[in-house]
Amino acid sequence: MKTIKLIAFTALIGLVVAACGGGESAPSTSGGPAGPGDIAHGSEIYKGTCATCHGGDAKGIDGLGRSLVNNEFIQSMSEQDLATFIKVGRDRDDPDNTTGVDMPPKGGNPSLTEQDLNDVSAYLKSLNP
Ligand code: HEC
Repeated sequence: MKTIKLIAFTALIGLVVAACGGGESAPSTSGGPAGPGDIAHGSEIYKGTCATCHGGDAKGIDGLGRSLVNNEFIQSMSEQDLATFIKVGRDRDDPDNTTGVDMPPKGGNPSLTEQDLNDVSAYLKSLNP
């Protein structure tokens, strides 16, 4: 009798595990691969996170961020590479750093998602045709 109970219990656990792990995940905005950048949303991200250093007009602020318009660095990159750059930033010890000021990872806003980074990259690309 005891053995039968044990088998039933084990089978039940198996079912629960299968039910939790086997479901198809519905498309969501938070998980999974991020989609192409959305310029309008990128502009909001820019205003919220980047404008403090790069200026509301993206033309840079002396002693803070560089100008991001007429910017060859941005022009030379794909939207995807730009998103990767923004994710990492460029601190003052980086040999490519010219200002001696940190460009913090994700502009110092760790809550930005991969999608947010794509969106803000699309926005910056739109400023640098
Ligand atoms: C704390 C200030 C600060 C914030 C906030 C900030 N940046 Fe920067 N950013 C910098 C600085 C400083 C540099 C230039 C670093 C250097 O000397 O190479 C820079 C450089 C860059 C560059 C490279 C420009 C070039 O010509 O090399 C890009 C692109 C950039 N930032 C995008 C962003 C985006 C997008 C955000 C918002 C998500 C952001 N930054 C937020 C300070 C900031």
